[in-house]
Amino acid sequence: MTVKNAMTNDFLHSAYGGESMAHMRYLQWSEVAKREGFPNVAKLFVAIAYAEQVHANNHFKEIGGNADDFTVTAGAVFGMSNTVDNLQGAINGELHEIEQMYPVYLKTAIFQEEKGAERSFHFALEAEKIHAELFQQAQDSVKEGKDLELKSVLICPVCGHTVLDNAPDFCPVCGAKKQAYKEF
Ligand SMILES: [Fe+2]
Ligand SMILES: [Fe+2]
Repeated sequence: MTVKNAMTNDFLHSAYGGESMAHMRYLQWSEVAKREGFPNVAKLFVAIAYAEQVHANNHFKEIGGNADDFTVTAGAVFGMSNTVDNLQGAINGELHEIEQMYPVYLKTAIFQEEKGAERSFHFALEAEKIHAELFQQAQDSVKEGKDLELKSVLICPVCGHTVLDNAPDFCPVCGAKKQAYKEF
């Protein structure tokens, strides 16, 4: 719960800011998808917005709930445009987290023996891999003028693990029980 090292602390603040913005952005983009007649893509955005909230909450806890001084390092401008473009924005954001941000943050936390931050970054990294794939599937459908095929989206409230239609008996990332998953 208490971070000892400045570098890990900086990364937790940055990740908290990034996840908070991703949460809002996905809610906004779900409205666009709904307007454009893709209710399942809209649902995917709402569900994954919740997963990003789980990540933000985890990072927030590790910095002792004091996030007043976080600095926003991402310089990208996110518009509302259309769902194909919004999904590309979502894919780009997730890939940035998967390929650069969380691997670096995670290695730093391990190097600095920050167990809580390590757990929080690990949870986020694993979920973002799934998010990138789901957003890619959604974009493939929308490009063909079709909505994504799904019944529901389920999110682990502990780590943000994301799965379509059926939750596993235990979360493969954190071990939470099937019943804990939040259904969208
Ligand atoms: Fe994500
Ligand atoms: Fe989990």
